[in-house]
Amino acid sequence: MKNAKKNRPELLKGQSEFTQLPKNFIYMNNGTEGSMPGCVIKALHKTLKQWANNPTNAFEIDPVLGKRQKKNRKAMAQFLGVQLNNICQTENTTMGLNMVIMGLDFKPEDTLVMTDHEHPSIISPIWILKKKLGLQVKVRKFPKPAELSKINAEQLIDHLFPNIPVLKNAKALCISHTYNTTGIRLPLDKIKQRADELNIRYLIVDGAQGMGMVDLNKPENRVDNCDFYAAPTHKWMNGPPGTGVLYIKNACIRPPEFYPPLSQKMAAYMSDDDIQSQLPMAEALTIRGCSIIPAYVAITKLLKFFKKIGGQEKVEKHILGLSSIVRDFIAEKSPAGLISATAPELQSGLVSFYPFNWEQPQTCFKDKKTVIGVVDKLLEKGVQVRYVPFPTVDFSEQCKLQCHEQDSVRDCSGEPVEQTFAVRVSTGYFNTPEDVKVFRKTLKQVLKGLGK
Ligand SMILES: Cc1ncc(COP(=O)(O)O)c(C=O)c1O
Repeated sequence: MKNAKKNRPELLKGQSEFTQLPKNFIYMNNGTEGSMPGCVIKALHKTLKQWANNPTNAFEIDPVLGKRQKKNRKAMAQFLGVQLNNICQTENTTMGLNMVIMGLDFKPEDTLVMTDHEHPSIISPIWILKKKLGLQVKVRKFPKPAELSKINAEQLIDHLFPNIPVLKNAKALCISHTYNTTGIRLPLDKIKQRADELNIRYLIVDGAQGMGMVDLNKPENRVDNCDFYAAPTHKWMNGPPGTGVLYIKNACIRPPEFYPPLSQKMAAYMSDDDIQSQLPMAEALTIRGCSIIPAYVAITKLLKFFKKIGGQEKVEKHILGLSSIVRDFIAEKSPAGLISATAPELQSGLVSFYPFNWEQPQTCFKDKKTVIGVVDKLLEKGVQVRYVPFPTVDFSEQCKLQCHEQDSVRDCSGEPVEQTFAVRVSTGYFNTPEDVKVFRKTLKQVLKGLGK
């Protein structure tokens, strides 16, 4: 870890609270996990002690720590600009997505639309339904990386979800708010409009790379564009591990439309004359055994921290500002290497690129070994980013589901499909322009050594 952060000029409000990140370490991987500001660690510590002091009371009746979580859910609802009964706290994005996808009443004849860049946490439950039920899955392919950096939102939406008969009347459209592979952010309001034009019943969004990175109160990012939005609070929000949130638009959703697999309260929904004993669905999903409640209390503290530092708008501005510097640097040095979009409405806090030969920047490296080598060398020098594979999803009967770890990927016909690897940089709230400068300098050193 050679590149020590020297004098940190002018920190933004709250940046100095990320004291657990080592001084000589530049952490640019918020897209995998966040750190935590001191106030959240302190709150977590305090509530764990409160819990340990009187556990039964905490779980059964305490107004803050108790199992129904109304206070903490309400604070989260306010943060997202929605209502208490739209919010269920979860452990992570994967949990929220599984609650939804495994809970909706899909039939074998239903069609579900997704893209070839979805994360395993959404692919996995879809794959189960495909295998178990015979659900029809249509996988739409993203344009090639070389085209992505030049495309705009309308063109991308027309490419991914054109108004064609095969997509019409699908039961669900499953997408990511921001793609963990390319850093492409989809404008949810325009996606919703297209889903309506296609008469698609449910818009289900993986918000793992959205919440805490962009301002969820802006029209294009609002969770209420979606029927379901599952997000973590342990990544860009910088909350405790094992925390997340599920937004459910229809607070009154119930069987037979929705049979969620994870709750202790579903028996009450099975008899029509027992409406009084039915909790709002988000609350029924909250009562699922003892969860990491002290951490949900710490999240409420985190939401106050967001307020203190100027709100989501300010956080987004900082994150996207830093990612623009990274993107412009790559675009200028190696246009062929840049994968992430340059169109403002598709930008996010993630920038992906292929490593390139510093002297001949049109020569890019896309293989796993070189890309991991670059990421490892950066880490040796005190800068943490990550590598991302571009997964290819295949739902054909002949082929197994492809996963990240595999080197070679085949399409339905058995033909090999190109799978490439890229470097991904996350610019978190705690990062500074100085961090980006060090990243650029270190990357230059590493790329100069490539192939030697
Ligand atoms: C797009 C996407 N979806 C889902 C996940 C899984 O997130 P979680 O750990 O909150 O389940 C990730 C994690 O990196 C992701 O990038």
